[in-house]
Amino acid sequence: MKIAVLAGGYSPERDVSLVSAGLIAKALCRNGHRVALIDAYLGADIPDAGADSLFAREITEEYHITENVPDLKKLRETSGNGDALIGKNVIEICRSADIVYIGLHGATGENGQLQALFDCHGIKYTGAGYVGCALAMDKEMSKLLFRVSGIPTPDGITAKPETTREEIIEKVGLPCVTKPCSGGSSVGVSIVRCENSLEKAMKDAFEYEDRVIAEKLVKGREMTVGILCGEALPPIEIIPKSGFYDYKNKYQSGLTEEICPPDITKSEDKLLRETALHAMRALRIEEHAYCRVDMILESDGTPRVLEVNTLPGMTPTSLLPQAAKVAGYGYDELCEKIVMSAWENR
Ligand SMILES: Nc1ncnc2c1ncn2[C@@H]1O[C@H](COP(=O)(O)OP(=O)(O)O)[C@@H](O)[C@H]1O
Ligand SMILES: [Mg+2]
Repeated sequence: MKIAVLAGGYSPERDVSLVSAGLIAKALCRNGHRVALIDAYLGADIPDAGADSLFAREITEEYHITENVPDLKKLRETSGNGDALIGKNVIEICRSADIVYIGLHGATGENGQLQALFDCHGIKYTGAGYVGCALAMDKEMSKLLFRVSGIPTPDGITAKPETTREEIIEKVGLPCVTKPCSGGSSVGVSIVRCENSLEKAMKDAFEYEDRVIAEKLVKGREMTVGILCGEALPPIEIIPKSGFYDYKNKYQSGLTEEICPPDITKSEDKLLRETALHAMRALRIEEHAYCRVDMILESDGTPRVLEVNTLPGMTPTSLLPQAAKVAGYGYDELCEKIVMSAWENR
């Protein structure tokens, strides 16, 4: 097949995506496909030989993730894209592919905009459709749907710029967690333990958007469950060596212990997997798609869902690929499964 793998994009998780999409592209080449690895934000020139000549049997690009979130303002200034969120020729190149592998994280790639655009163009793509993506990206909407579906999620409120700090203390209490409503990779997330640090935490979150989730800090063990073509994979327990699971602890190797399968009872394992499937369905993510559900397992056995990721990290050491490996799917096979189930069902 001819597969366009979309990488990078205009999102704080841009670097993460450059790494994972590069590895996905290599895996798909090993599986025998012809692949074009395209930066979704910077786009690409179409050579005189036509878009078809961009699809190669080997990919050589390599990227590394730095400790810091990329400087998007600078990227925008130098890209010449103006207000556009996708780069030149991206649609043309994707139209010339048999299918698009969305190797992006966050923002346009994960919030459903790109999926809707592809639907309009009749372009096939991997992963969840635009409704599931949009609902999962918006933590306020997700939490509303979890609540009406009987899925436990931390109690809290959505704060606007005019919400007073007193109101947050009164309605949510301390300790609490503050996060941008549509963020990812823990960018802008803070754990607030005393009143004095609330101001800075809110400021950090409002840097990204003007809706901020303030919710109770849930005590328990952090678990995440990947879902692949309707199958809930073994849970992974996440134990950062210090602090919480922030950007640095997520992407710098060795800072977090990730245990799969974790030391939990059979019934806890079953409940975590069932809750993950329930959360996926509540957000209208299709059965044939894939996603990863973040939860905290409380000491009384309740799994509280924090969020669903419709474009989870996809380096071989990322959480979903790790869980897939325990379930018996190697990295190349995982990438192939994601492509084939999209090809057959979209
Ligand atoms: N209510 C909460 N209770 C405890 N820890 C939380 C809570 N919300 C977030 N966290 C911590 O912050 C991390 C990021 O939060 P999450 O809601 O998953 O947002 P993101 O989209 O940035 O991954 C989680 O993995 C967890 O470690
Ligand atoms: Mg998360």
